[in-house]
Amino acid sequence: MQELSVRHLLGIKDITPQDIQLIFETADNFKDVLNRPIKKVPSLRDITIANVFFENSTRTRLSFELAEKRLSADVINFSSSSSSVKKGETLLDTVNNILAMKVDMIVMRHSSPGAPHFLSRHITANIVNAGDGTHEHPTQALLDSFSIRERLGDVAGKKVVIIGDILHSRVALSNIFALQKLGAEVMVCGPITLLPKYIKELGVKVELDVRKALAWCDVANVLRIQLERQQMKYFPSLREYTLYYGIDKKLLDSLDKEIVLMHPGPINRGVELSSDAADSHHSIILNQVENGVAIRMAVLYLLASRQ
Ligand code: CP
Repeated sequence: MQELSVRHLLGIKDITPQDIQLIFETADNFKDVLNRPIKKVPSLRDITIANVFFENSTRTRLSFELAEKRLSADVINFSSSSSSVKKGETLLDTVNNILAMKVDMIVMRHSSPGAPHFLSRHITANIVNAGDGTHEHPTQALLDSFSIRERLGDVAGKKVVIIGDILHSRVALSNIFALQKLGAEVMVCGPITLLPKYIKELGVKVELDVRKALAWCDVANVLRIQLERQQMKYFPSLREYTLYYGIDKKLLDSLDKEIVLMHPGPINRGVELSSDAADSHHSIILNQVENGVAIRMAVLYLLASRQ
């Protein structure tokens, strides 16, 4: 059996193109399972997984939990808002207490960049990063590239623009790494204040004009403005942001080609995307969510064999 080169999935930066292809091929098989009347396999029957979420989540938490249940794992869920973290317990103490209950894998979301990397140096259970602050969100990038491959046949050679709040986005960084490892050309587009100073060092194109970016690309991955991570004003108002960077159906129809429209969610309808764009035939937003379960099944299954 082929194996991943890593014991934990902390970020796309740490994995190889071969790892990504293996995850995709495994996810193809699990996607077939998910389309059967009985959507469950016994692959992780003896494995216990804790979903440890220190930050809000809808898609990622539910998608991991469903993936774990489809693989027949035992699942426990932890949410910091209702936990003893509120009484002053440290991250390491919290996780060690969970592991004392004989947990094999930890899926963790945390607001601090590097939190899962820190844990990986102190515990032996496999760790999957479900988003660490503004750093990485590896399973989101995997399901995004998997969805491009599904819609366009391949990721290699495709032109993908990531539009919006690149500065605060773990989705942007993980997508840049994944797309480049798979041979895509990557552009970022947004107000200059929302582009990191180091962005060109990542080997991506930079475009400030959203119309030019859309005219260039095969795929546009649109991000929301992460107001919860912004300590200062990066643009005058959301109204102005929408005026210059908002994407609607009229703008998509004005292009002389079809492009694929993506969004990791949650969407702020009427800000970065209008409803008529988000719900148009260009959009594969719900396909991304569907593919997330198969991708997370593949990641958990492959990591479990590296215990
Ligand atoms: N895409 C994503 O991470 O969504 P959630 O924050 O709802 O998990």
